[in-house]
Amino acid sequence: MGARAFAAHHADTGPRGALVIRELREADLAEVVPLHREAFRGALGPMLGERYVRHFLRWFLAQPQAVCLVYDFAGEVAGYAFGAPDGYGAALNRELLPTVVLAALTHPHIVLHRHFAGKARGRLLGAWRRVTRGGGVGTPGMAATSSTRFSLTGIGVSPRHRKRKIGQQLLAAFEARVAAGGFASVCLDVYADNHAARRLYESMGWQLREELGRVLVYDKQLGSAT
Ligand SMILES: CC(C)(COP(=O)(O)OP(=O)(O)OC[C@H]1O[C@@H](n2cnc3c(N)ncnc32)[C@H](O)[C@@H]1OP(=O)(O)O)[C@@H](O)C(=O)NCCC(=O)NCCS
Repeated sequence: MGARAFAAHHADTGPRGALVIRELREADLAEVVPLHREAFRGALGPMLGERYVRHFLRWFLAQPQAVCLVYDFAGEVAGYAFGAPDGYGAALNRELLPTVVLAALTHPHIVLHRHFAGKARGRLLGAWRRVTRGGGVGTPGMAATSSTRFSLTGIGVSPRHRKRKIGQQLLAAFEARVAAGGFASVCLDVYADNHAARRLYESMGWQLREELGRVLVYDKQLGSAT
């Protein structure tokens, strides 16, 4: 469908019609996993393969406090956004450790990749230490948090649906859900050279807070005007 037809269709149906932002469901993973792998190509998680990405997304689905949304375009997932309260990384790394180890064994070339060397080894060691020190994986999932900050972990729009404001709509819906959950702010990491994503965030009132080399941290106070 071309951009004009899409816009007309959107105007006709509205949010209660064929186009809707709704909760991500297990059944959507068949579409969202390849979308996430394409959208985050070159990032560490997708490099670990389809199985890892499926487990990764499923982990968020299982967290009561996570927000996981899709943009459903007449039955097709055109985009998605998901995240969890700040500080989820430790529980995620701990619980996905077996999946990461298996992925590294079945994709040994990944271990030699500079991203893996830089990031995964530290995360794996941390997760391993927590597992061995704690005597087990403990209760699955992240503990209820007192954090007032929420992380946007991932957002992606299918290449054929990009530049039609789906990203903005997903982001607005994500922020609204997070605010309704009582969180005061949202944050995210983005690569400095990801200009499309940075413009999207900036167009929605997010502000650059920190530069960590290639990675930039943006955040937004919720309730503030966009
Ligand atoms: C970033 C992404 C989600 C944007 O989704 P989208 O639906 O195409 O974005 P929108 O149509 O809502 O665009 C909103 C604004 O973002 C900016 N933008 C979006 N795509 C852009 C592009 N290719 N180049 C420059 N600016 C862009 C523009 O400012 C745009 O507003 P405008 O159309 O009025 O100029 C999409 O490009 C994507 O999936 N990228 C790959 C995954 C990714 O990088 N995710 C973020 C990782 S942190």
